[in-house]
Order: sequence, then C-alpha cells, then structure tokens
Amino acid sequence: MNPAINDLHPYPFQKLEKLLAEKPWTGPERGMGEAIRLTIGEPRHAPPQFVLDVWQNALPQVAKYPTTLGTPELRQAISQWLKQRFNADVSAATQILPVNGTREALFAFAQAHIDASTPSQLSRPSMNSGLAENVRPELVEGQTLANQPLVASPNPFYQIYEGAALLAGAKPYFVNCDASGLADFDAVSADVWQQVQLVYACSPGNPTGAVVSKEQWQRLIALSDEHDFIIAADECYSEIWFDEPPVGLLQVCAEIGRNDFKNCLVFHSLSKRSNLPGLRSGFVAGDATALASFLKYRTYHGCAMPIPSQLASIEAWNDESHVEENRRLYREKFQRVLEILEPVMQVKKPDASFYLWPTLNDICGGDDEAFAQGLHHEQGVTVLPGSYLSRDTDNGNPGAGHVRISLVASVEECVEAANRIAQFVRTN
Ligand SMILES: Cc1ncc(COP(=O)(O)O)c(C=O)c1O
Repeated sequence: MNPAINDLHPYPFQKLEKLLAEKPWTGPERGMGEAIRLTIGEPRHAPPQFVLDVWQNALPQVAKYPTTLGTPELRQAISQWLKQRFNADVSAATQILPVNGTREALFAFAQAHIDASTPSQLSRPSMNSGLAENVRPELVEGQTLANQPLVASPNPFYQIYEGAALLAGAKPYFVNCDASGLADFDAVSADVWQQVQLVYACSPGNPTGAVVSKEQWQRLIALSDEHDFIIAADECYSEIWFDEPPVGLLQVCAEIGRNDFKNCLVFHSLSKRSNLPGLRSGFVAGDATALASFLKYRTYHGCAMPIPSQLASIEAWNDESHVEENRRLYREKFQRVLEILEPVMQVKKPDASFYLWPTLNDICGGDDEAFAQGLHHEQGVTVLPGSYLSRDTDNGNPGAGHVRISLVASVEECVEAANRIAQFVRTN
C-alpha cells in the first residue's frame, strides 16, 4: 500500500464522534428536545426545483458516456458566469474544466501537478525558514524534506489540501492564519517559496470566513512569478456573502491584464452557491497550460461528469435569483443568531461563508474540545473544535481556542441552537 496513506490524519468528524461519545446527549430522555448539528458544512437550504427538473428529465442520457472535458454548452455557461460575476474573459475551449465538485478537483490537481522527482534546489532547509516551526514534527524528520516539494496551505484549512499534498509525494507547509483569519503568506521566507510547487488559498476561508483582498491576491501572484508555483484558489464559498461580493483570483488577473491567468486556477462549486452538494458539480478555470495537463490526468483518472448533471449545472450557472434568495436566508440567519451570541461571546459576522468562528477566551478555560464536548452533553448542540481543523506548530495551534459553527440548518433550528449555546456559555 502507498505508505503516504499512513500519514493521513483521521478526518475531523471521526475525531468529533469519538469525543462526543465520551459524554452523550441525553436531552430527549429529559424532555429537552432533539440534538442540533452545526458541525458539517453541508448546505441544507432547498435545492432549486427547476434544476432538479432538468436533471430528472435528462436521466435517460446516462445511456451515454460523458467526456472528461464536458460539453461545450456547460463550459460556455461557466464562461458566461465568470464574465458576469468576475468580469474575466475565460475561454470555454481551453481555460475551463468541469469537475465533480471541488473536493475531488482540489485533491486531484495536486496529483497531476506535483513533480516529486525533482530534487529541490536546497540541500536542507534554512534555519530561519520557519519550515521546522510550521510543519508537523514527524514530517521534518531526517533530511528528506529538502528533496521533497512543498504544498503551502493555510492553517486552519480544508482537510483535503493536506491529504492531496501527502499523496502527491509533497509535504504540506502550513501558514498560520493571523487575527484577520487569513494565511499570512507574506511571512513565508524566500527559500521556502523556492520549494513550493502549489499554494492552496481559500477565499472566503473555511473556517474563518475571511476574504483575500485584491492587494493580497496581487502579492501572491507576484510571489508566484518570482518562485514559479501554481495558486489554487478555492473559491467555493464565493457566493455566500453578506455585504459585498468577494473578489476572485481571475478577477484580479483580468484587472492587471494577466489574461492568460498564468499559474492561477480557481475552483468553484454549485454545492454551496446553489444548495446542490449531492450533484457533485463544479469547475476549475484559469491557466490553459495547467488545465491541459490536468485534463490529460483526468482522462486516465476517469472522472467525467454525467450528462444529466452537466445539463442541470447549466441551468444552475445561468440563474442568479435562487442564489440571491439563498444569500437572503443566510443573512437573516446570521443576524438572528448573532443577536443572541454577540452579547455572550467573542464572535463576529464573517466576510462571507456560512461559518461562525468564535474565540472562546476563558469559556471552558479556552479549551475547544471541552467546549464542544460540554455543549453537546449539556445542550445537545454539536460544533467542531477549531483544533481539529488545524495542525500544531511551534507557534501554537491557530485553531485552538475556537470552534466552527456551521449555520446550515433552518433559521428556527439555528436560533434554537444559539439560545442553547448562550445558555451553555453563561454557565461555563
Ligand atoms: C473550503 C472547501 N473547499 C471545497 C469544498 C468541497 O466542496 P464540493 O466538493 O462540494 O464542491 C468544501 C466543502 O465543504 C470546502 O469547505
């Protein structure tokens, strides 16, 4: 078996299940109502019916093999959406690839892109590189590090980035998020950048909800030009915003005249935007050279999108009214929940996404596992400990002392959960 599989961490929800089982919720027996899960990032607003209708009517088309490249009509609809949303001219022929959700694409891209055979230019990491501080200790043992490519990732992060890096034969290089909730890429030293082949940048971020600014994207692009790495911008939450739409990487490229999107790729999805997580539909767009290799890889990988899903996706990308309605529901939910939580804990509305990322301070002694376990045990509300989404570094674990609250349930359920959280906070 591939030994890298042993390096994969248990998924956060497996850890959570174990933690919660130690102190179960017995509320229903005490007439306290059902448990409310605010852990998983799975949208629960209704999917648009007109998309489901198209999908259902197209079901007989499963009689045909789909192509990996997807239909020209789907790529055209995506191109139009990118133009309308980000004012970027993206070629449907060469700069767009439909994928079965961004999760598989974020993972697969690293497998296609990382060149694990090329020794780094460095014989060993520089002492002041910050490498040893940021990478898990077991990953920096011995001198093999210098011979392996690095994949930079925010910390905390969407867990797929780490698994993708490890299975591609690279080492994850974790860049801690600062108080703004964004990875501080400016803090990475030049000799580390020399080893980096791929950067995952998540905007809006999961779990912090922070949005990368135009200037920050420009600085990352400049670093990519200097050190020749690909920027994989995970923008799957870009349509769940409150006040203003998040800027996107291709938008910034278009504004600075980088029309070939060199070394820049964006990953988008219908899962959150259109409440269609089970459709498994998204796309990667940007640098045509990178996409040509990715397409070749995917042809062998065998992950073409079924034709009914492609036809349904066209409908979804072509319509904005359901997306506006979706945002309206999240706005209402965040407002109602924050009215309850802001007076009792340090929490604020994120720039975008459907997560709250409160700082616990002295609640439960600031211990995020104790908070999640106690909240579940006493009030039947499940949230995810922040430390499960990040790795330890010499500068601490940037997720510790936070929990991720996923506001995906109905307004009523979220309000009920917020009241129970407030009650828990008052007594802990
Ligand atoms: C940051 C981030 N990226 C990507 C994904 C994957 O989404 P999908 O595969 O449904 O497009 C998720 C899902 O929760 C996510 O949180």
